Amino acid sequence: MKKIILASIAATALSLPAVAAEHIEIPKGQWSFDGVLGKFDRQQLQRGFQVYKEVCANCHAVQYLSFRNLEDLGYSEAQIKSLAAEYEVEAGPNDEGDMFKRKALPSDHIPKPYANDALARVSNGGALPPDLSLMTKARDGGPDYVYNLLLGYENPPAGVEMAPGMHYNKFFPGHQIAMDRQIEDGKVTYADGSPTTAAAIAKDVTAFLHWAAEPKLEQRHSTGLRVTLYAFIFAVLAYFAKRRMWKNIPH
Ligand code: HEC
Repeated sequence: MKKIILASIAATALSLPAVAAEHIEIPKGQWSFDGVLGKFDRQQLQRGFQVYKEVCANCHAVQYLSFRNLEDLGYSEAQIKSLAAEYEVEAGPNDEGDMFKRKALPSDHIPKPYANDALARVSNGGALPPDLSLMTKARDGGPDYVYNLLLGYENPPAGVEMAPGMHYNKFFPGHQIAMDRQIEDGKVTYADGSPTTAAAIAKDVTAFLHWAAEPKLEQRHSTGLRVTLYAFIFAVLAYFAKRRMWKNIPH
């Protein structure tokens, strides 16, 4: 009996790792927005937006962003206006009841690449490119995950069978991702002369996506700091007030 119990415990223990999802270690990077004093680097955000616009926007939407939100990246009103005017959006209906196209305005949302999810899937071998506006908050590892994912393409290890249309990625859960490698050295040209290695480009676009997911990060940091400072000063005052009140009471 004892043998049977032991054997079944051993069998369970052995089969567990096969069932449990593989834990993928995501390397921790350094970001300008780390820590309580962390801030976004506006130049980096602008470069990241450029990468989004020139590369990712072919497949991924950022549904929560309107053009005017980009003022936070340091663009002028005129720049935002002319950026919006590069896009067309559907508007209407007009007096005849027809929808029509017009140039986008700063108040419009940045248009999606596909009119609907079905079209997005058909164009991507059945896989849906997810909206990226909250992506860095939606995945474990946050910006570090997105950054490493963008650079994590490799040849599949010997013996790994890839499903058709899938690409091996070290950091994607299950390692088979429908998105092919998107970022290579020199993929974009920056006006500010910043490096365009694959790593630098991946970093810039990830910083931009993190700003998109958490545009109020800086306010949150400075509020947190003020609250902490206030609590600290209050604690010091409370301590001295207590000492003073108890001074003449024997205890
Ligand atoms: C040619 C289309 C295409 C382009 C361009 C593209 N992607 Fe994707 N992306 C996809 C598809 C399709 C998926 C879904 C993959 C899957 O679920 O297997 C995806 C998934 C993702 C995911 C989600 C991974 C996850 O954990 O679910 C992230 C993050 C991502 N892409 C970021 C980017 C960024 C950043 C860029 C620009 C540098 C970009 N993609 C450019 C097609 C694209």
